[in-house]
Amino acid sequence: MDQTKPVTLSFLVLFLAACLSITQGKLFSYKASEEAEPCILADVDFTLYLAAERQGETLVDALVTSEDENIKVFGNCGPYSAILELIFPTGVNWFLTFRQEDDQEASYIQLVQITPAKLFGEAVPVKDPQVLSDPHITDLGNATKSYECPVPEIVEYEPLTVTTTKFNFTAIANVSYLHVQGFNVIDGNFSTSVLCNAAMTTVSPTPTNASFTTPSNASTTVETTLAPETTTAAPTSTSMKPTPKPTSSPEPPLKLYTVKGDGVTCIALQAALTLDIKYPVQGKGKTKMAKIFVPENSKSSGNCSLSATSQDLVISFFKDWKLKFVFTSTKANLLGSVLSNLNEEKQNHPKYKISQIQLVGSAEKELFPGTTWPAGTKLTFTSTKSDFPDVNPNKAYYKCSSSLKTKLGPNADLKSQQLEVKAFNRDNKADFSGPSANCAADSGSSKKKTYIIIGCVLGAVVLLSFIAFVVMRVIRRRREEYHRL
Ligand SMILES: *[C@@H]1O[C@H](CO)[C@@H](O)[C@H](O)[C@H]1NC(C)=O
Ligand SMILES: *[C@@H]1O[C@H](CO)[C@@H](O)[C@H](O)[C@H]1NC(C)=O
Ligand SMILES: *[C@@H]1O[C@H](CO)[C@@H](O)[C@H](O)[C@H]1NC(C)=O
Ligand SMILES: *[C@@H]1O[C@H](CO)[C@@H](O)[C@H](O)[C@H]1NC(C)=O
Ligand SMILES: *[C@@H]1O[C@H](CO)[C@@H](O)[C@H](O)[C@H]1NC(C)=O
Ligand SMILES: *[C@@H]1O[C@H](CO)[C@@H](O)[C@H](O)[C@H]1NC(C)=O
Ligand SMILES: *[C@@H]1O[C@H](CO)[C@@H](O)[C@H](O)[C@H]1NC(C)=O
Repeated sequence: MDQTKPVTLSFLVLFLAACLSITQGKLFSYKASEEAEPCILADVDFTLYLAAERQGETLVDALVTSEDENIKVFGNCGPYSAILELIFPTGVNWFLTFRQEDDQEASYIQLVQITPAKLFGEAVPVKDPQVLSDPHITDLGNATKSYECPVPEIVEYEPLTVTTTKFNFTAIANVSYLHVQGFNVIDGNFSTSVLCNAAMTTVSPTPTNASFTTPSNASTTVETTLAPETTTAAPTSTSMKPTPKPTSSPEPPLKLYTVKGDGVTCIALQAALTLDIKYPVQGKGKTKMAKIFVPENSKSSGNCSLSATSQDLVISFFKDWKLKFVFTSTKANLLGSVLSNLNEEKQNHPKYKISQIQLVGSAEKELFPGTTWPAGTKLTFTSTKSDFPDVNPNKAYYKCSSSLKTKLGPNADLKSQQLEVKAFNRDNKADFSGPSANCAADSGSSKKKTYIIIGCVLGAVVLLSFIAFVVMRVIRRRREEYHRL
C-alpha cells in the first residue's frame, strides 16, 4: 500500500493544478475546469492586516494584499452557493462565500482563514487553521447581476472558529474596490452591476448643526448621486474617490412599544427604529434618501385579537404616520391548533412570526427636503417578505442586537437596532427574560455556519471521490500487472 500514497498525491497535485488558475492581477476568476468559462469573477483591491495578540499586546503582525504574487485561486460553483478562495503562499486564505435564495437575491460574506504557525512563525506555534468572519452578510441584490463597490470599506473580521485560547487574532481588511459575481456569469464577463449603497449615498456637504439638534424630527438627509444600474464597465482605479466618513450622526431613540388587552400585554417590542426612504427630487430620475427616526414621542396601540391567529402593533408619530407590525401565529390548521393548544397550556405563546410591516403617512416638505412630491402625498410602503424568522414556543422572545434591515418595498427600508420583541404573550409582563431566539446577524450566525459547512462538505466530497477514483485505478493497474506476470 505504501506506493499508492505518492501516486495518489501526485494525482491530487495534478488535479489541483488543473483546477487552479494562477492569477497575479486584480481580476480573480474561478473555473470548474480548464475548458470551462469562469463561473465566479472577483475584481478586487484589498489589503488585509493580520495580527496575533496576547494580553492585549501585539506579538507579531503581517500584511497580505491583492497585489501579492502567487495568489492561487480555488473555488466551487453551485446553483445556491458559490465559493471563491484566494490562497496566499503565507498561510492565509481569503474566501468570498456567495449564497442565492430562491427569490434570486444574492448575498455574500467574507471569511479569512489563517494558519498561525505558517503566517506568524515560531512566535505563534498554532498549526490548526483559525477562521475569522465578516460579521455582516452583504446583500448583493439580483443574482443575475454583478455587484460593484468603488467605495473603500473596512472589514473587521470576528472569530468564527478559533481553537486556541493562548492567542487572540485580529484581521482587518481595507477593501478599496470590489466587483464580484458568484452566479450567472455568462461568457466570462460581468453582468451589469448593482452598485453598493455606499456608492449611491454620500453625506450631504456640511449638514447644518440645527438638523442634528432636533433628533425628534427628520434628522439627516443624504444625497443620492444615483448612478444608473446599467453601468457596465468597472471604473478604473483612478476614478475612485474615497467617500468622506459621515460625521457622528445622532442615534434613533430606543423605545418600548406595547399592546395591551384583556389584562395581558400581548405584544412588547423594544427597538431603535430608523426609516430610510428614497424620494424624488428635481431632475430626471434623481432621488435623495431621507433618514427618519421613529421619534421619542411616538405612541403605540394595536389589537391583541385582530383575528384568531393575528395581532398587530401600530406605532403612531408625526401628524399621521403609522408603522404597523402584523404578527401571525403559524398553526397548521384547526385540528392542529386544538392539539397544539393542549400542549401550549404549559407554554407562553404559540409559534408565530412577523408576517407584515407597513408604513403609511403623508409626505411633508420638512421630512423630504426638495421633494417633487406634492405636499400631503399619501405614502404607503409594505414589506414584501419579512426577514424575521419564526419564534418557537420554547423561546420567550426574539432578539437582534445587530442592526437589522427590512425592505418595505423597493424605496424604503426599516432599520431596527437593539430589537427585542414578543407577541401572543399571555401574561402582563412587558419585559424580556428567558431564552431568546436570536437573529443570524448576532454572533453564532447560522447562515455563516451553513456557508462553511457547505464549503467543507463540497471540498471533502470532491477530494474523497477523487481519492477513491485514484485508489481504484491504482488497484486496477496492480491487478493488470499481477495478471501479466
Ligand atoms: C483575548 O481577548 C479577551 C477579550 O479582550 C481577553 O479577555 C483575553 O485575555 C485575551 N486572550 C489573550 C491570550 O490575550
Ligand atoms: C432579476 O433580474 C432578472 C433579469 O433582469 C429578472 O428577470 C428578475 O425578475 C429579477 N429578479 C428579481 C428578484 O428582481
Ligand atoms: C483604504 O484604501 C484606500 C485606497 O487604497 C485608501 O485611500 C484608504 O486610506 C484606506 N483606508 C484605511 C483606513 O487604511
Ligand atoms: C465579453 O467580453 C469580451 C471582451 O471585452 C467581448 O469581446 C465579448 O463580446 C464579451 N461577451 C459578451 C457575451 O458580452
Ligand atoms: C452645535 O450646536 C451646539 C449647541 O448649540 C454647540 O455646542 C456646538 O458647538 C455646535 N457644533 C458645531 C459644529 O457648530
Ligand atoms: C380588534 O380587531 C377585531 C377584528 O377586526 C375587532 O372586532 C375588534 O373590535 C378590534 N379590537 C380593538 C380593541 O380595536
Ligand atoms: C418637529 O419638532 C418640532 C419641535 O420639536 C415640533 O414642533 C414639530 O411638530 C415636529 N414636526 C413633526 C413633523 O413632528
